[in-house]
Amino acid sequence: MPAFQELVFSGVQPTGNLHLGNYLGAIRRFVALQPAYETCLYCVVDLHAITVWQDPAELTAQIREVTAAFLAAGIDPARSIVFNQSQVPQHAELAWIFNCVARLGWLNRMTQFKEKAGKDRENASIGLYDYPVLMAADILAYRATHVPVGEDQKQHLELTRDIAQKFNNDFAGSIAAHGHGEAFFPLTEPLIGGPAARVMSLRDGTKKMSKSDPSDYSRINLTDDADAIAQKVRKAKTDAEPLPSEVAGLAGRPEADNLVGIFASLRDVTREEVLRDYGGAQFSAFKGALVDLAVEALGPVGAEMKRLVADPGHIDAVLADGAARAEAIAAPNLAAVKDIVGFVRRR
Ligand code: TYM
Repeated sequence: MPAFQELVFSGVQPTGNLHLGNYLGAIRRFVALQPAYETCLYCVVDLHAITVWQDPAELTAQIREVTAAFLAAGIDPARSIVFNQSQVPQHAELAWIFNCVARLGWLNRMTQFKEKAGKDRENASIGLYDYPVLMAADILAYRATHVPVGEDQKQHLELTRDIAQKFNNDFAGSIAAHGHGEAFFPLTEPLIGGPAARVMSLRDGTKKMSKSDPSDYSRINLTDDADAIAQKVRKAKTDAEPLPSEVAGLAGRPEADNLVGIFASLRDVTREEVLRDYGGAQFSAFKGALVDLAVEALGPVGAEMKRLVADPGHIDAVLADGAARAEAIAAPNLAAVKDIVGFVRRR
């Protein structure tokens, strides 16, 4: 595999409340990667959002709200490229070409589709089924080498690698003939990790914290105020035992494991270090400390989000600037793909 220029890409859907899982598993890590990589693209994936019905006015507001969350969390739009997917036509264009590379059998294995479509599969949109192919196009339109995501996106990133590999193999001769060497697309590395790669529901430690859980008590939203955060943490499900002093003691205790993981991530330490301080403690004491940490971390982000969404003109200008810079990278890549596939191009 030839060396590709290092580039970070990730995306967040503008569908409903952003929560602590999105923040700790993804957005806060996007911020941390900025100094380490010259080019980071952070995308509000509105084309993905409409794979399930979205009220149009609500969608517009949500696109701006996710953008505000990016900025409030510390993504610098002068340094990173912040934009919404529908403003850069190369995503949808490359997705079509990848539809002709990806195999039905590959998509049939995607667990997220099965979960989201549920029992009424016949009534799911074709877009929902095709969702991971568009995701591969998002990443590969920029030939991104690194993608920070939560653990739930792992299978989609494996599919992205399969699509890149098959494209590189199927078109090997043409890729070389057009001067791109042995491979046109990189095999993208997922960046999944840390104690919050999979934040679980506060009501059930075996279920992922998610935007779609009907109970608002299952998640902490980025816009929750201090009272709401305190209430949700205090009501969070636990068991009757005090906290163990070793990580091994968290086995079989999903709620305790989840709260310790959240605490560790908020404080930027490991679970071991948390248990060194809190091993033997009762949940009441631990939850008090967790509330303080969560309020301290999320309070300023929520307040800044509210300030930013009050000025949609500014947000729209950030998105327009980001889209132009994103397109400047994606357009030559798409032109090269068209040459490789054998299309005749306007020159
Ligand atoms: P989305 O919008 O569902 O979630 C955004 C990010 O948050 C992470 N995440 C979590 N992390 C830890 N614990 C949780 N409970 C939790 N819930 C969500 C997700 O893993 C994700 O990183 N398919 C993507 C959006 C996407 C994308 C892409 C991502 C579209 N194209 C290209 C990367 C690259 C999604 O639905 O994210």
